[in-house]
Amino acid sequence: MTYRIAVLPGDGIGPEIMPAAQRVLAEVGDFEFHEYRIGAAGLAAHGQPLPEHTLNGCRQSDAVLLGAVGTGVQPTDPAAPRAEQGLLELRARLGLFANLRPVRPLPALRGASPLRGSYVAGVDLLVVRELTGGLYFGERGRSGAGSAQRAYDTCEYTVAEVERVARVAFELARRRSAAHGRPPRVASVDKANALETSRLWREVVTRLAAREYPDVAVEHVLVDTAAMRLVTAPGTFDVLLTENMFGDILSDEAAALAGSLGLLSSASLPALPRPGKPVPGALFEPVHGSAPDIAGKGTASPLGMILSAALLLRYGLGLPEAADAVEGAVERAVSAGLRTRDLGGTDDTGTATDAVLDALSGTR
Ligand code: IPM
Ligand code: MG
Repeated sequence: MTYRIAVLPGDGIGPEIMPAAQRVLAEVGDFEFHEYRIGAAGLAAHGQPLPEHTLNGCRQSDAVLLGAVGTGVQPTDPAAPRAEQGLLELRARLGLFANLRPVRPLPALRGASPLRGSYVAGVDLLVVRELTGGLYFGERGRSGAGSAQRAYDTCEYTVAEVERVARVAFELARRRSAAHGRPPRVASVDKANALETSRLWREVVTRLAAREYPDVAVEHVLVDTAAMRLVTAPGTFDVLLTENMFGDILSDEAAALAGSLGLLSSASLPALPRPGKPVPGALFEPVHGSAPDIAGKGTASPLGMILSAALLLRYGLGLPEAADAVEGAVERAVSAGLRTRDLGGTDDTGTATDAVLDALSGTR
């Protein structure tokens, strides 16, 4: 079986790290890669951050691999198109409502975490972030001028939007429970003491849990408390379910526990994943972004990109054994000493990729 993958390298370090994922995928299966522009690259080539050609290419593929989007420079004209719009539009147009961001600090990198090893040991959590609603996609605008100029963004959620992403969190909590031999748990994060959308969120999650997931232990955590608990007791979380903006912030905080944002991968799904079944039309990208400060140097860590390819195998194509093999190779390479700059080492994009490929083919 040959899989068709849409490859969107994007901006900054994206084009440097993308070949790492392609090399790793080519090692474990048969893939046809088709490359498309997005972000600043889309603007430069086609005048749009999400060219129609790119969207069509994604729709014709089994899965989408994305590097990073953004230049680090916001245009001075607020009405000018921004590179990041390409990514947000792609999420909306492909209906990618559930964003999974696993955080599992590797034992060999415990010393790289800002927290003492004893706090990080055993941390294995999954952020399930709602990705196509809330503040990011609500009504927005500006009016007036001078010091009376006003800007607004609005946050809205419907019952159906909360239910579909909550179901993903509950299903994955069950699956993780079976794999880890511990009871399924979901912490739903909101700000119900201040926001109406959060009160609706909490009602919907509570009702869904009672009706369809009575075996899953649910706790409701206010977002400020969740932010604190992530650094004081991260081991008390398993699946963290939250809305778009809270999820953006908390997932970077959780990622820091692993020692570097460079290690983190993500999956953005348009449907509930079923065990061993592919989710067609999903997108996979590292969490770290375009890192314009180190772009063009060939020093960026390819690990978040490679681990995103592993998620593509697991969720996008329903190939869990191949995904395990790639994740295992990254873990073995790191145990054997692979350290990129973000982890205080000297490995560059190329040598780090070679080390993972060596581990994958068992030559190490
Ligand atoms: C992320 C990023 C994006 C987001 C940006 C680039 C718009 O920070 O994927 O977390 O906020 O969703
Ligand atoms: Mg972010």
